[in-house]
Amino acid sequence: MNSSKNKILIYGAAGYTGRLVCERAKELELPFEIAGRSGDTIEPLAKELGVAYHTFGVDDAAGWKAALQNASCLINAAGPFENTAEYAMKACLDNGVHHLDISAELATYQLAESLDEQAKQAGIMLISGAGMFVSYDALVLHTARRVKTPHKVSVAFRHYGGFSRGSVKSSRNIAGLGILVRKDGKIKQVADAQTKLFYFGDGEEECLPTPLGGIILSYKSTGIPNIEEYFQLKLPASGMADLADIDALPDGPNAEERAAGRTRLAAEVTDEDGGKAYSVVDAPSGYTLTSLSVVAVAHRILRGDFKTGFQSPASAFGESIIRDIPDTNIIDF
Ligand SMILES: NC(=O)c1ccc[n+]([C@@H]2O[C@H](COP(=O)([O-])OP(=O)(O)OC[C@H]3O[C@@H](n4cnc5c(N)ncnc54)[C@H](OP(=O)(O)O)[C@@H]3O)[C@@H](O)[C@H]2O)c1
Repeated sequence: MNSSKNKILIYGAAGYTGRLVCERAKELELPFEIAGRSGDTIEPLAKELGVAYHTFGVDDAAGWKAALQNASCLINAAGPFENTAEYAMKACLDNGVHHLDISAELATYQLAESLDEQAKQAGIMLISGAGMFVSYDALVLHTARRVKTPHKVSVAFRHYGGFSRGSVKSSRNIAGLGILVRKDGKIKQVADAQTKLFYFGDGEEECLPTPLGGIILSYKSTGIPNIEEYFQLKLPASGMADLADIDALPDGPNAEERAAGRTRLAAEVTDEDGGKAYSVVDAPSGYTLTSLSVVAVAHRILRGDFKTGFQSPASAFGESIIRDIPDTNIIDF
């Protein structure tokens, strides 16, 4: 890779989460430029941040080429990713730039997986799901290593802080999938999935079966043949706005709301012999965690730490990546 290509390009920078990602990159004084499809929002943001900017639509190959000229790593924060991931990944392959996004959509993980060989040939790392899934994937790998032959993992995500408008828009790409699990190494639909109790370190809670991304990402990092995922929602005191009118929703939780609660993740790994390991992650609430996580991964890349091809956060960096995320810890039980 050309040595002058040493910057992060943040596409979708003016979105709710994109702005948090920019703030974190700025806080760490990392070299970055920003981009998005609308000059009305990108230009003032670039001025505020004191960085260069690029305005182009996601399907504009020439726009990507110019914007990626000085970049070694893209952070795509423009979701729903069903509309942007393919273009962003192709741009990274064409321009020899490592790819990160903060997608929570299973289809984009599968797209990245399908581009493994092309990414290897291009000498780039392709990660989809480098937001909240960084600590999630590190937790699964960590817990799996606590047993001899991991056979099954059940993971639960306790979200705090409500959702951004962008997340609500993207949620149909998750909710519409039904309940998916990995069983004996294959992704399967489950008709009669049951709720499950998880201990998050501060009491037990009932969680709903929900396909989250570990069935692709944590399969990549651990190879555990049986993976089930669950979700538990903790809303801020104000509750959730009426989701019927998405455009009337606020951009996302404000700084005070984000600081008022924590994300908890729990993983239970069962050994082939029936032994169990149980670990929990305690981390900042969702959107803060996402921005801290994706910038931590980009920072590793800027330091030359990457593996080519399709990767998950933990397959690329091992569980140590969680130590790069401030105020985020694994607790063993
Ligand atoms: N898993 C995680 O860790 C995690 C955490 C947070 C967010 N997310 C995901 O991140 C995404 C963004 O969330 P958000 O809250 O930041 O949403 P948002 O405030 O609506 O921002 C979305 C940004 O993407 C841009 N965009 C959307 N569609 C585009 C397209 N087709 N072409 C070019 N740009 C496009 C928007 O540009 P305009 O302003 O021009 O429309 C905006 O800048 C969502 O999909 C959300 O689910 C995932």
